[in-house]
Amino acid sequence: TPRKPIIAIDGPAGAGKSTVTKQVANKLGLLFLDTGAMYRSITLAVLQEGIDLRDQEKVKAIAANSKIQLFANPIVGQPMQVLLNGEDVTTEIRTPEVTANVSTIAAQPSVREILVKQQQLIGQSGGVVMEGRDIGTHVFPDAEVKIFLTASAKERAKRRHADLIAQGQVAPDLATLEQEIAERDRKDSTRESSPLIQAEDATLVDTDGLTIEEVVTAIVNLYEAKVQNL
Ligand code: CDP
Ligand code: CDP
Repeated sequence: TPRKPIIAIDGPAGAGKSTVTKQVANKLGLLFLDTGAMYRSITLAVLQEGIDLRDQEKVKAIAANSKIQLFANPIVGQPMQVLLNGEDVTTEIRTPEVTANVSTIAAQPSVREILVKQQQLIGQSGGVVMEGRDIGTHVFPDAEVKIFLTASAKERAKRRHADLIAQGQVAPDLATLEQEIAERDRKDSTRESSPLIQAEDATLVDTDGLTIEEVVTAIVNLYEAKVQNL
């Protein structure tokens, strides 16, 4: 049987991928998956083991032996619930330490190979909105709808700042956040192994000045137009 359609949503940090993905999936009755949470989980496991982040053999062994489970969080606006080897790490994978190191782990080809296989397995029957950096280029190059979501680094830093304040966390100042975001974008875009890049057949959505609602509607419309023509 042919698989159901897939929506791939890629783009840099803070573009709105997680927020928009969840709402699009809810509107269309599809599953959703935040693949960044998987790279964050392996990064957390590596940090907990205290091994050198650049030791590719050891990092690979950790990636191969880690069991990651993702569940949709029923609370609106909350990220996916994540279990790492049975332990709830939903909060731990979002600490500044994990965020600062995740790009180093995600650049390693053996880690990507292991996680991409799991993502392809999860999405094999389709009916899913998957977000990340390489979904439209590598994980599901045949996805029916591909979106490249972006916004200026300034705007993305502002959103991250507002998110942190809303969560009652200490937020670095805007300039620092913008610098951190730009540094992660640089690492993600320049790595050898499936870098962050817009797929040739992806639709670019620049969300500067757009509301979440407007972005969600645009993607739902693209999906409906496409699926009607299948
Ligand atoms: O939510 P945020 O935009 O901060 O990032 P994320 O989606 O949680 O992803 C964290 C990191 O994982 C990214 O900066 C990438 O280094 C890596 N990642 C990746 O390489 N490929 C993916 N498909 C998803 C995430
Ligand atoms: O997953 P990613 O890192 O791409 O972004 P996110 O975690 O969804 O965070 C985006 C933040 O910007 C959230 O607080 C959204 O409410 C907000 N936002 C948005 O996603 N889209 C807009 N058009 C405007 C604001």
